[in-house]
Amino acid sequence: MKKNLLVGMLGLVGILAGCASVKTADFDDIKLYTLKNKTGTMVKITNYGATVTSIVTTDREGQMADIALGYNDVSGYMNAVDKPYFGSIVGRYGNRIALGRFSIDGEEYELATNNNANHLHGGVIGFDKVVWDAEVIGAHALRLSYLAKDGEEGYPGNLQIAVTYTLTEDNELKLDYVATTDKKTPVNLTNHTYFNLKGEGEGDILGHELLINAKATTPVDSGLIPTGKIIPVAGTPFDFTTAKAIGRDIGKKDQQLEFGLGYDHNWVLDKGDKDGKMTLAATVYEPTTGRFMEVFTQEPGIQFYCGNFLAGNLKGKAGRTYVNRGGFCLETQHYPDSPNQKNFPSTILNPGEEYKTMTIYRFSAK
Ligand code: GLA
Repeated sequence: MKKNLLVGMLGLVGILAGCASVKTADFDDIKLYTLKNKTGTMVKITNYGATVTSIVTTDREGQMADIALGYNDVSGYMNAVDKPYFGSIVGRYGNRIALGRFSIDGEEYELATNNNANHLHGGVIGFDKVVWDAEVIGAHALRLSYLAKDGEEGYPGNLQIAVTYTLTEDNELKLDYVATTDKKTPVNLTNHTYFNLKGEGEGDILGHELLINAKATTPVDSGLIPTGKIIPVAGTPFDFTTAKAIGRDIGKKDQQLEFGLGYDHNWVLDKGDKDGKMTLAATVYEPTTGRFMEVFTQEPGIQFYCGNFLAGNLKGKAGRTYVNRGGFCLETQHYPDSPNQKNFPSTILNPGEEYKTMTIYRFSAK
């Protein structure tokens, strides 16, 4: 065991407490890992759902707090009634596919539907509900891999995926995703961590100041499926091109906000001539603690979801209630429903190709 990487066996005992019967997981294989750096930043990850269960960072006074929402045992993740997808990797297709249907080369595929009539975050047993193989790499990284079988949740092709989480000394949590397939298939992987930079369970996130480096969004219908249009954010509550409090315009009368019950939309990132390259996608500043987070990605889009479905009916890992809008997600991704939207960047992975993408969350305080 390396000095800075504590394979958290005690944590493991904690996370296993209270588990009863589950079909999707073999408990003996579920573990909790801790990545730590010299500044004291600490990230916990379980191979159940490749889930980030905790991110402890400093505020401007040097006070540490856990800024990621989550449960304190694995049964929480397994039995989540309201399916918040706390911290997990979602896929094979993160976000929605209309009616769970798409076709490739004239062949139609039907996926599991789990969000009214639509497919969301990979289906009934998506990547957030399976046990991944884990490999500790060096002192600061954990590689999680999973083989999604041909036909799983209706998707074509055996898809071998791996996500490597690395915590750097610069307080970056780096996510490297790779995947290969033996049949053409859509792939769209993202991480579904809910952040509250005041600390998990410390009320709502409406005072956090958000900047999204995007001049356009993909508006949706009432089922949150993109209409196919790409529209400018200028003059709308969706304009985060300069930082503003998440709560500033959230109550404005706007059909898109009504459909999402708030923000739950994909922004089209300004990539300029850096298509497919790392660019700054978003920043978030929390004024009372000074915590600051930057998100960099190679992906063309980002789903900003501000916890509209958190209903105040669940308690987090420290026993505090997660209120409505008690956390926000910045899910770097390709646009929702891309397999059915010809004018969106393609999400189809071909045999012989490698899906390879990186996202970084960088934490600081000021
Ligand atoms: C995504 C979706 C939301 C919601 C959450 C999970 O971010 O876009 O509509 O389903 O996941 O609650």
